[in-house]
Amino acid sequence: MAQLSRIGVSLESDLLDRFDRFIAEKGYDNRSEAFRDLIRDRLVGTAVVASKAAVVGTVTLIYDHHTRLLPEKLADLQHEHHEVVISTLHAHLDHDTCLEVVLLRGRSRDVQQLADKLISTKGVRHGRLVMSSPDTVSPRRHSHR
Ligand code: NI
Repeated sequence: MAQLSRIGVSLESDLLDRFDRFIAEKGYDNRSEAFRDLIRDRLVGTAVVASKAAVVGTVTLIYDHHTRLLPEKLADLQHEHHEVVISTLHAHLDHDTCLEVVLLRGRSRDVQQLADKLISTKGVRHGRLVMSSPDTVSPRRHSHR
């Protein structure tokens, strides 16, 4: 276990009340773990802004597979950028609708650019990129909650 440092934090009482309600809703056992998660989240968010930062990302896409040439276009984009694409998960949600999750790894700028191309492809109904920086997340951070 990493060495722990103890700090004191001063907060307005109404802000602390809101924080306590928030962590109760999220199921935290104590404030310390909630503080740690919020700080890590913020640090990751800062790290992935740097265009050359090493990041991993997931792109979630929802689309109608009957849209002309759309599945082919999405596959072509992934082949063109195969050095950034780790893997793709595809689920046929119903007769028409596909869910695709693309795992990406590379420089922040490259991951962002490919995600933008995938999400903006005509016919994609909904798309979102979530990026994380493995460099910023400490090794013991594997709670699998
Ligand atoms: Ni499908």
